[in-house]
Amino acid sequence: MSVDENIFFREATMRICSTLDLEIAMWRTIQYIGEFIPADEMYVHIYEPGLGALRTIAGATEEGGRKMNSITPLPEAIRKRVLETPQMLTINRAEMEQGFKFMLDYYGRKDTSALMRLLDIEGEKLGMLALLVKGRNRFSDEQSRLFSLLKEPFSMALCNTMKHQEVLRLKDMLADDNRYLHSELYRLSGDEIVGAAFGMKAVMEMVQHVAPLNSTVLLLGETGVGKDIIANAIHYASPRKDGPFIKVNCGTIPETLIDSELFGHEKGAFTGALFQKRGRFERAEHGTIFLDEIGELPAPAQVKMLRVLQYKEIERVGGTQPISLNIRLIAATNRNLEDMVKTKQFREDLWFRLNVFPIPIPPLRERKTDIPALVHYFMQRKSRELKLSSAPALAPGAIDRLTAYPWPGNVRELENLIERAIIISRGKPLSFDLLLPGGLGDVSESPEAPSASPKLDDVAARHIRRILSRTKGRVHGKGGAADILGIHPSTLRNRMNQLRIPYGRKTDYS
Ligand SMILES: Nc1ncnc2c1ncn2[C@@H]1O[C@H](COP(=O)(O)OP(=O)(O)OP(=O)(O)O)[C@@H](O)[C@H]1O
Ligand SMILES: [Mg+2]
Repeated sequence: MSVDENIFFREATMRICSTLDLEIAMWRTIQYIGEFIPADEMYVHIYEPGLGALRTIAGATEEGGRKMNSITPLPEAIRKRVLETPQMLTINRAEMEQGFKFMLDYYGRKDTSALMRLLDIEGEKLGMLALLVKGRNRFSDEQSRLFSLLKEPFSMALCNTMKHQEVLRLKDMLADDNRYLHSELYRLSGDEIVGAAFGMKAVMEMVQHVAPLNSTVLLLGETGVGKDIIANAIHYASPRKDGPFIKVNCGTIPETLIDSELFGHEKGAFTGALFQKRGRFERAEHGTIFLDEIGELPAPAQVKMLRVLQYKEIERVGGTQPISLNIRLIAATNRNLEDMVKTKQFREDLWFRLNVFPIPIPPLRERKTDIPALVHYFMQRKSRELKLSSAPALAPGAIDRLTAYPWPGNVRELENLIERAIIISRGKPLSFDLLLPGGLGDVSESPEAPSASPKLDDVAARHIRRILSRTKGRVHGKGGAADILGIHPSTLRNRMNQLRIPYGRKTDYS
């Protein structure tokens, strides 16, 4: 039958390119070309150089197409012929072809004719297209030439399929990572909140009350009281628990990067903006954004934050379209925002927006009943982390000593102290004698001392000075005062400012 090659090429190409599913494209194609070329089965193989084999990834007959994943070993002779012959290979008498007999035997076929065409793009060998039909001498030269017209569109289709599969693989991998990270976070949030039924009872009641709502929550409390774990608990007890939980530490992002970190940027928005980047607000879509240390937010960023809270909308740096957000906001601070508003360090309008549902978290010295449970919890956890076979015992009087201490660094300070005690005790009962600053017991012995009393500040100031004299005035770094106290250096500096403790290595703290 004579056929117009242009029409054949156009019609076949339209079918090959009609879908991203290669097997469906092949099925549509075989139905069409069957009118002109004998065709029982068609296969697409990709070449696996590492295996010295072809992997069949799709096949089709007139009845339908199917995805495949089978390896066909390629005898050396065929490999050379097929992969190094850029023209159409017409096999009309397989038994006469070196190596092909092996393949036909391998598949249990006797008399079969085949057309085989190497698929490549810009010299890169991708794989092979094969058309099989029962019987010998089934293909004429003209049919072989017609079939070879399909090389370009099939090479394109195979290339797209491989890229598409790679994208799907990467997407699956990302989704898997994401699920893993989520379950890790979930595990962290599932961490017992020690004292939930005692010293933290009022806090936990508020958490349960507010978690299901969308309201902004403001967590207030000194450093180390557990603001982070409460923020976690609110997110994971909320209907957004399967969405992202994105934390932003407002005190640590450099001022020049705040905009692009929080709001993202468009490609080319500034020198170095090589890609479009989503900011943390966008990443929190359908989830919760946790703005930690909100009191440290510089004034210009406070203005922008206000806009986000007012309109629930952001604009990427260099962007022209506002992006609306579906997020829940939790903020936390260890500063007294009300005082900061009075001294104009914090915008009053922003404070009003944040102060919708404040949750004050009491300092540890006001819930000393939780200390024994916390000690037990951290001894177990730290021993596990340090890979000890069992947790050490407590020396007599240890709990009393710990309870008498005022804990300016709160739960984190207790956690760090227990870790240090376990490390230096080498399996002996923990007494904390050497680790707890001496001479403080007398001041804090009365547990009912009100938290805001000047006496307590005196205690904290003396304690901080003592640690500073030990570190020779060094605040930062390992073994620095902040490290020993188990608090963030910026928090310690704030506290030093409040308590009017000067800093500098030459200062005499004794
Ligand atoms: N009730 C608690 N039960 C168990 N662990 C706790 C509890 N409270 C705090 N912790 C632990 O103490 C450490 C400090 O808590 P967290 O980081 O939540 O404090 P924070 O208030 O956010 O401090 P900062 O103001 O310095 O950021 C963490 O390791 C946390 O897991
Ligand atoms: Mg925190």
